[in-house]
Amino acid sequence: MSKKVPSTITQPLGIRLLHWSLACTVTLLIATGFYRAHPGWLDISLRTVRLIHSSAGFLLLIIVPVFTLYHILSGTWKDVFFLPQDLKKSPAFLKYVFFLRKSCPSVTKYNPGQKAIYTSWFFLFILQLITGFMLYTHTFFSHFSMDRVIYLHYAATFGFVTILIHIYFVLTEDPAKLQSMFTGREKDP
Ligand code: HEM
Ligand code: HEM
Repeated sequence: MSKKVPSTITQPLGIRLLHWSLACTVTLLIATGFYRAHPGWLDISLRTVRLIHSSAGFLLLIIVPVFTLYHILSGTWKDVFFLPQDLKKSPAFLKYVFFLRKSCPSVTKYNPGQKAIYTSWFFLFILQLITGFMLYTHTFFSHFSMDRVIYLHYAATFGFVTILIHIYFVLTEDPAKLQSMFTGREKDP
C-alpha cells in the first residue's frame, strides 16, 4: 500500500491558474508584438497576428487586475512586491547568486531577485496596457505623437527579458517549488 507523503499547499489553485494564464498571454504578446514589428518571415497573415495580439492584450487587461486584487485581498502582496527589507537582503542574495556565498540568506516565499522581477513586470504591464490601448484606439489620441507611443511600447517589451532570469531561478532553486506551480503542493521537510 502506498503511503501518503505529508505535504502543504504552497501555490493555491487561484495562483496557479493566474500564473499559467499570465505566462501564456505574455508569451503570445511578445511573440506577436515582435512579429508585428518585423513581419514576413512566417507564412501567416499580419491581420491574424494583429487579431491575436489585440485579443491577448484584452486578456492581459483582465488577468493583471484580477492577479493584483487576489494578492491585495488575500494579504499576500508582500510576498511578491519588492520591499525595503528585500533591498537589505539583496547584497547577500547577489553574492549567493554569483557563487560568492554558500547559503541563500533567509527569504520569505520568493527571493529578492524574483520579487524585483515581479515588481518590474507589474509596472511594465501598466505601461504596455496604457500604450497598447493608445495604439489600439489611436484615432482618439490624434493630438499625441503615435510614433513616440509605438517606440515606448516596443522598447518596453525588452524589459521582459527578465522572464529568462525568472525561469533560471525557478530551475536552479528548488525542484519542489517548480512542482508546486503544477500540483499546488510541496513536500514537508
Ligand atoms: C506584455 C504586453 C505587451 C507586449 C510585450 C507588446 C508588444 C508589442 C510590440 C513589440 C509591438 C510592435 C511595435 C512596433 O511595431 O514597433 C506591439 C504593437 C502593438 N500592440 Fe502591443 N504589446 C503588449 C500589450 C498590448 C496591449 C495590452 C495592447 C492593447 C490592445 C496592445 C496593442 C498593440 C497595438 C495596437 C500595436 C500595433 C501598432 C501598429 O502596428 O500600428 N499591445 N506590441
Ligand atoms: C511569461 C512567462 C512567465 C510569467 C509572466 C510568470 C510570472 C510569475 C509570477 C507573477 C509569479 C509569482 C506568482 C505569485 O503571485 O505568487 C511566478 C512564480 C513562479 N513561476 Fe512563473 N512566470 C512565467 C513563466 C514561468 C515558467 C515557464 C515556469 C516554469 C519553468 C514558471 C514557474 C514558476 C514557479 C515555479 C513559480 C514559483 C517560484 C517560487 O516558488 O520560487 N514560470 N511566475
